[in-house]
Amino acid sequence: MHTITKSLVTSKMIRQGIRRLKQVAPSVRAMSSQANLTSLNADNEGIAVLTLQRPPVNSLNLDLLQEISKSLDEVSKNKFRALILTSASPTVFSAGLDIMEMYKPDMKRAELFWTTLQEVWLKLFEASYITAAAINGHAPAGGCLLATSCEYRAMVSGKYTIGLNETALGIVAPVWFMGSLCNTVPSREAELALTTGKLFTVDEALKVSLIDDVATDKEDAINKCKEFIKKFNRIPPLARAVTKQKYRASTTQWLKDNRKADVAEFLGFLSNPKIQQSLEMYIQSLKQKAK
Ligand SMILES: CC(C)(COP(=O)(O)OP(=O)(O)OC[C@H]1O[C@@H](n2cnc3c(N)ncnc32)[C@H](O)[C@@H]1OP(=O)(O)O)[C@@H](O)C(=O)NCCC(=O)NCCS
Repeated sequence: MHTITKSLVTSKMIRQGIRRLKQVAPSVRAMSSQANLTSLNADNEGIAVLTLQRPPVNSLNLDLLQEISKSLDEVSKNKFRALILTSASPTVFSAGLDIMEMYKPDMKRAELFWTTLQEVWLKLFEASYITAAAINGHAPAGGCLLATSCEYRAMVSGKYTIGLNETALGIVAPVWFMGSLCNTVPSREAELALTTGKLFTVDEALKVSLIDDVATDKEDAINKCKEFIKKFNRIPPLARAVTKQKYRASTTQWLKDNRKADVAEFLGFLSNPKIQQSLEMYIQSLKQKAK
């Protein structure tokens, strides 16, 4: 009985939430903060836009992940009501994890890299504020992870792809990457996509609900995210946040219970010579393609 009472969102909690929002709303101010690899800009309605700007392809290295993590803290601290995640690149949302963090790595740095990625995912996936992704370009692997951690996705039309392609590279996506995808697309589609390392075209992604809308350009994608955010104008924010977190709790539980084991698995994977060989070949193929 005690647990049930504790786990329910009572009308008192909701009233408190509304009261808190009323107290907070007038003090929400437009702000802009610029870091090296990201920028965070919030309007006076409390909608923050976090832009990834690590050329050429926003690959997620330790420094970028640390900046994202700090920005997510800033969104919480300033009590912004929503976050839109996007990229400064005209063609790439994010190329996923920076392969150079995994190729012949310094193990101490690799450990910090992975724990920071875990933190970023947990903060974004469970954020109490509304989250949306304006995907203005390719979003493979970790790019897809960031996008699927949000509650809504608008992707710009074009020859871009999105998906968890790890299997195709001979590596295995961690179970929480899989969870993020399963929270977005039907389970059957998720299993097929994961086992084949599928990268979806924009149209294919729309068909399986990997994205929610197709946009004409970045501005349109951001506007579509804002339309999504507006849907919650009349929903008490505390009830919304608790509902989201409870709905998503089963997806985050495994990582919360196994954070150290997950890091150990990653480090073990990096120590495997066969994996290092595959990474080397993949880096070469990317460099060849870029020529
Ligand atoms: C995202 C992508 C479609 C963009 O294509 P593009 O705009 O034509 O850009 P390029 O492939 O030419 O990449 C530009 C540079 O970024 C590098 N790069 C791309 N993805 C990278 C990654 N995930 N990590 C590190 N470096 C990466 C390339 O090697 C290239 O480096 P160079 O300029 O020194 O040769 C393509 O880069 C890609 O498929 N990247 C790999 C994505 C992936 O499989 N990620 C999984 C990682 S586990």
